[in-house]
Amino acid sequence: MKSYLFAPGPTPVPERVLLRMAMPIIHHREEAFEAVFEEVREGLKYLFQTDQEVLVLTSSGTGAMEAAISNLFSEGDEVLVVRAGKFGQRWGELAETFGLSPVYLDFPWGEPADPAKIAERLEAQPAIRGVLIQASETSTGVMHPIREIAKFTSKRDDVVLIVDGITAVGVFEMPMDEWGIDVVITGSQKALMLPPGLAFISLSEKAWKMAESSSLPRYYFDLKKHLVSSKKNQTPYTPAISLVLGLQEVLGMIRAEGLEAVFARHHRIAEATREAVKAMGLALFAKSSPSDALTAVVMPETVDGLALKKAFLDRYGITVAGGQGQIKGKIIRIAHLGYFDPIDMFQVIAALEMSLYKMGYPVELGSGLGILAEKLA
Ligand SMILES: Cc1ncc(COP(=O)(O)O)c(C=O)c1O
Repeated sequence: MKSYLFAPGPTPVPERVLLRMAMPIIHHREEAFEAVFEEVREGLKYLFQTDQEVLVLTSSGTGAMEAAISNLFSEGDEVLVVRAGKFGQRWGELAETFGLSPVYLDFPWGEPADPAKIAERLEAQPAIRGVLIQASETSTGVMHPIREIAKFTSKRDDVVLIVDGITAVGVFEMPMDEWGIDVVITGSQKALMLPPGLAFISLSEKAWKMAESSSLPRYYFDLKKHLVSSKKNQTPYTPAISLVLGLQEVLGMIRAEGLEAVFARHHRIAEATREAVKAMGLALFAKSSPSDALTAVVMPETVDGLALKKAFLDRYGITVAGGQGQIKGKIIRIAHLGYFDPIDMFQVIAALEMSLYKMGYPVELGSGLGILAEKLA
């Protein structure tokens, strides 16, 4: 049986990237590596739509989230943590771990954050120094309105907007400089089509200024050290060299396709998948503002999401993600981000139809596939 990855990370790695990463290792203090890194730096700026340096950390995405906290704030600093899913909760856990004073603003899982409520809270509590949020909350499949939030955070010199863009960067439009976002983060195993192991973080001038007065302890993730090294086409410590080689390849692919086309491809297959799911009589977990990174599908009352996920794997070799936390077993999540094209979606929708059918759910075979074909033809 073939294996197919349809979880929102890790995502499939293109063949030419796999080949590049299989090349003999080079030494990171040699010119050959520096030439690669120079190109990677440019490619990352293009991807993040920024003139700022994008730092490459050897960790999963959470490492960059931790770096944002430990480099920008000091003990006791108030930060507004927007929670509408599992990754919003992670911001809170990180803030608490580092001794910050998180102010929580909760929204129901499945709904986007309301920018007016964020603005209200910032006004009511002027000591708040940062807003911590996801651009795409992967646990619910919802996109938060970053542009709207940036409109008011960018007007304040003393508040930074920190965006976990782990399933947003390279998926949909989020130009860091143009919108005035202060910190953008992503990871290698999502839209960047690489194995896990690299995290990326970029800071605005305002964020670098705030970092000047931060007094939290840090060592490996001291971003100032990373900035100094990066400008010399280096990293302070041994990087994941093979992943950096793969990254050069991936960034070349993204540039060749063009960011606009990359966003349009994600939107097209996400939209078609959403329509296919609805045509099968199923509901989307996102009540509004669905993320183009993934589709979270609500399981009918009679279907156990964990059993469905297992059926996908056992019968068809397909890995999808289930629900996390309070929605465990209640949804399945189908990825669109990274190395996916329209034809891939037929596999996963076919598996969904067949699995539900076998489980006795009254689905009309072909109902989802028909719409998918109609939308993607
Ligand atoms: C929105 C979001 N934030 C954070 C993370 C955590 O990233 P990592 O597992 O790479 O540390 C993920 C992973 O799925 C994510 O989707």
